[in-house]
Amino acid sequence: MLGNFSYCNPTRLYFGKDAMKGLEEELPKYGKNVLLVYGGGSIKKNGIYAQVKAALEKCGKNVFEDAGVMPNPTVEKLYEGVERARAAKADLILAVGGGSVCDYAKAVSVSVHCDEDPWEKYYIRFEEPTCEIVPVACVLTMVGTGSEMNGGSVITNHAQKLKIGHVFGTEVFPKFSVLNPEFTFTLPEYQMIAGFYDIMSHILEQYFSGTDDNTSDYIMEGLLRSLIHSAPIAKKNPTDYEARSNIMWTATWALNTLVAMGKDTDWEVHMLGQAVGAHTDATHGMTLAAVSMAYYRYIMPYGLAKFRRYAVNVWGVDPEGKTDEAVAAEGLDRMEAWMKSLGLVMNLTDLGVKEDMIDGLVKSTLVMEGGYKVLTPEEIARIFRASL
Ligand code: NZQ
Ligand code: ZN
Repeated sequence: MLGNFSYCNPTRLYFGKDAMKGLEEELPKYGKNVLLVYGGGSIKKNGIYAQVKAALEKCGKNVFEDAGVMPNPTVEKLYEGVERARAAKADLILAVGGGSVCDYAKAVSVSVHCDEDPWEKYYIRFEEPTCEIVPVACVLTMVGTGSEMNGGSVITNHAQKLKIGHVFGTEVFPKFSVLNPEFTFTLPEYQMIAGFYDIMSHILEQYFSGTDDNTSDYIMEGLLRSLIHSAPIAKKNPTDYEARSNIMWTATWALNTLVAMGKDTDWEVHMLGQAVGAHTDATHGMTLAAVSMAYYRYIMPYGLAKFRRYAVNVWGVDPEGKTDEAVAAEGLDRMEAWMKSLGLVMNLTDLGVKEDMIDGLVKSTLVMEGGYKVLTPEEIARIFRASL
């Protein structure tokens, strides 16, 4: 049974080959000073930077730049960005990049007019913003996180060995996002497939929870089937517009809050993956891929009916004459084979994790309560060990 909820997603999307026209439509609605935020320079090589600058100039904006946002943005970079945004008196923060750039822009947006330490306030104490929030907009260049249409913002503190996400309310969602699938064509294969698995993981985190019958699970099965179909096509031919555009749209729906409405969710794979990220700085989607099979095989008996349903409805396993356990296990085997065929990182050793790091990883892992099994520290250690 669906629980009570209130639903609103305020982000306006401009999708498709002409999506950049949306930027010119939207920019006049905001003040003069724009803080243009981007990463390590991919947007200068692939021409996206030039297109964004042209639109900003056409709309007569004063442009201030904040470059060098790293994958898994750090708290030190956040402090720097806050100073830049203050100096620019930013009226709009325009994030041009992937989830890291977009997450970072949101973190800056809630910190510019706040006197407290944003790490302590938002990522340790999980408080909500009490200050004026600078509007954020996004031109997306990497698909996976859903950050273009949600309030998520993940920041890494290497000194404290913590990587933590704050899920902000709708007031922090991007006001608008530009989604041109062609902008993702230049992604290196490693990043592209990591993003594909990030999408799958977002859906599974929300699917493997609860025992009720609800519409969201049916929507998620459809999203998963679309992703499973399109990902190998995109891997073979990264410029296949049909596959890349479907994957881009699936990623947005996977984590724009809709499918979580009225149902329980898990998110433990992300907690395990974020601990790995805090210790290794590895690519987000790969950290999830490396721990997923061990985690799902461990919790399968606690949520057997859902794992059986997943095998049949998503992976097309024929249940005839098989036990529920056998059907569920076959579904996970098919998922693992699909992941391997894409070339995902399937173990933690390949991400630089060693046996003697496991105690530290366990300490960095937050425990969620919405999944089929609330993990003890011993069980978390066991899953990490099985993922090595
Ligand atoms: O920095 P540049 O030079 O732009 O290169 C980036 C970066 O190295 C490159 N890239 C992006 N678009 C490109 C491109 N290279 C060539 N052509 C393009 N079109 O890709 C690399 C990775 O980018 P990044 O933004 O780090 O990847 P992603 O989108 O996966 O974001 C990862 C971050 O998002 C957080 C993760 O924890 C991680 O910190 N997440 C945010 C979520 C949210 N907001 O809801 C949820 C997710 O679960 C996730 O936790
Ligand atoms: Zn993710």
